[in-house]
Amino acid sequence: MGYKKILVTSALPYANGHIHLGHIAGAYLPADIYVRYQRLRGQKVLYIGGSDEYGVPITLTALKEGTTPKDVIDRYHNANAEAFRRLGISYDIYGRTSWDLHIDTTQSFFTNLYNKQYIFPREMELWYSTKTNRFLPDRYVKGQCPRCGYEDANGDECEKCGAQYSAKELINPRANIPGDNSTPVLKTSLHWFLNLPKFQEKLTQWLESHPEWRSNVRGIAWSWIEDLRPRCITRDTDWGVPIPLDHPDAMNKRIYVWFDAPIGYVTNTRQWGIDKYNDPYAWEDWWKNPDTRLIHFIGKDNVPFHAVIFPAMLMGQDNFILADNVVGNEYLNIFNRRTGKSEKGSKSRGNMIRVSWAIDKLGTNSIRYYICSIMPESKDSDFDWNEFRNHYNGELCDIVGNFVHRTLTMIMKNFDGKVPSPGIMDEADNAMLSAISTAKEGVAESIETFRFRLALERWVDLARKANVYFDSKQPWATRKTDIERTGTTLYVCAQVVKALAILMNPFIPDGSLELCSIINYEIKQQGPEGGDDIWEEITKPLHAGFSLNPPKVLFPKMEAEFIEQIAEEHEKGLAS
Ligand code: MF3
Ligand code: ZN
Repeated sequence: MGYKKILVTSALPYANGHIHLGHIAGAYLPADIYVRYQRLRGQKVLYIGGSDEYGVPITLTALKEGTTPKDVIDRYHNANAEAFRRLGISYDIYGRTSWDLHIDTTQSFFTNLYNKQYIFPREMELWYSTKTNRFLPDRYVKGQCPRCGYEDANGDECEKCGAQYSAKELINPRANIPGDNSTPVLKTSLHWFLNLPKFQEKLTQWLESHPEWRSNVRGIAWSWIEDLRPRCITRDTDWGVPIPLDHPDAMNKRIYVWFDAPIGYVTNTRQWGIDKYNDPYAWEDWWKNPDTRLIHFIGKDNVPFHAVIFPAMLMGQDNFILADNVVGNEYLNIFNRRTGKSEKGSKSRGNMIRVSWAIDKLGTNSIRYYICSIMPESKDSDFDWNEFRNHYNGELCDIVGNFVHRTLTMIMKNFDGKVPSPGIMDEADNAMLSAISTAKEGVAESIETFRFRLALERWVDLARKANVYFDSKQPWATRKTDIERTGTTLYVCAQVVKALAILMNPFIPDGSLELCSIINYEIKQQGPEGGDDIWEEITKPLHAGFSLNPPKVLFPKMEAEFIEQIAEEHEKGLAS
């Protein structure tokens, strides 16, 4: 394959709310499919995740709930780690940016950049509340957007139109803290800036060397690189990593959350090496090893940070590798059955679907299947309950499940549960067997190029072809007239069942393991140290005489009324 190690990251979700299916479709399921696939190939793959635990959204939540930021992050960190675990998102570590180790990693990044003069101080005029005697960073102040007029714009950026501006441009500012909506005044404060324009040349070269990236990611990255400005990387807050400078103005300030968050990937890799090998330097063999391929999976809103700012921060260190790909998905919207329109998932609408809620209702197989089948890879897509049921029942149950079931049932009844010996193969038999290797290559190729929907379709397509083959061979009829012919047919079908089981593994790991146990085939669990190329076994035959177990219903059908009930709960806002 050419490279030695693959380091995969998924965006660190804020420990400020429950993860929902929109997150999963964006940055987690694609990464997990990719990682599971690479593990099957025996690659040395390490999958890093964790919570993003600093920043104003978290202190605001704490203020609103009358509790501490620490209480907020503990609660959501644990809840989200558990939701990921239940969904089978197979991180090698799920870390925390509130770890002490993270202070060390972040400060070292800052200090390196500072010493190389990529960071400079500058005085700014910021909004200050004279009522609560504090500066109002980020969402602590709201007002009217100077570009589009949106009433609820934040201190230095507008969620509505995406504009970024300096705080003093905000029109009719008001403090946005529980108990304080006073009109703030402008006050001077000293802050530190990352001098992004200094990286323009290197960033340009690097981006030019990656024409293979998705066009949405490249587009956003280019528009940033063409207009780089210094970025403020400190804030007036006490919730964040302390600024490692011996300067009186640094005392009451902290490093900005968007500076420390991506460094969390490095921290969590350090912690992983300590936990696993008791080796504080194991992480360097990933982050400072030119043979490592680094791949970030993110939602579209995170593109500038992963394709411009974090890479610049890495360029300013010593010998860090840069991302080999930044895989950014578009958004998963929610289809509203009443209005017949698709709408954005939002907290205030209450239309988001929490992962743990969805698993309670539906289990993981159907969720992973449906989300992968509608993954918003090149454009936004809709979560739609009718489609959920159609995809799950129509494809997973009726095509894949049905083929596996009819094959195993006939082998049980007619061949005592053993893979029959094949007789002479005809053209259709050979075509079916070669469809297995076509699927093997096709699924591999599409996963390696980050087209997960296509990969899933290719897997289902193998089962679809197998059903056509089964129907044309009519083993239920030939068993009375030509048992050898029946044996050949079911031998071929058994090979397809095994292939389907392994091919399924990255997408639907639980379903795959269950099917594997039915066919007495064990998939070895492999991790960051690599292993065998199990993918190659897709085309290695299950030999005649090999014992299989009786089939079970792998994917039980979901009745319309059942989904209707769940959809109604969702529509009442009970899912968020
Ligand atoms: N917490 C951020 C979000 O949800 C993502 C942080 S990704 C990281 O948008 F790289 F910065 F960690
Ligand atoms: Zn605006």
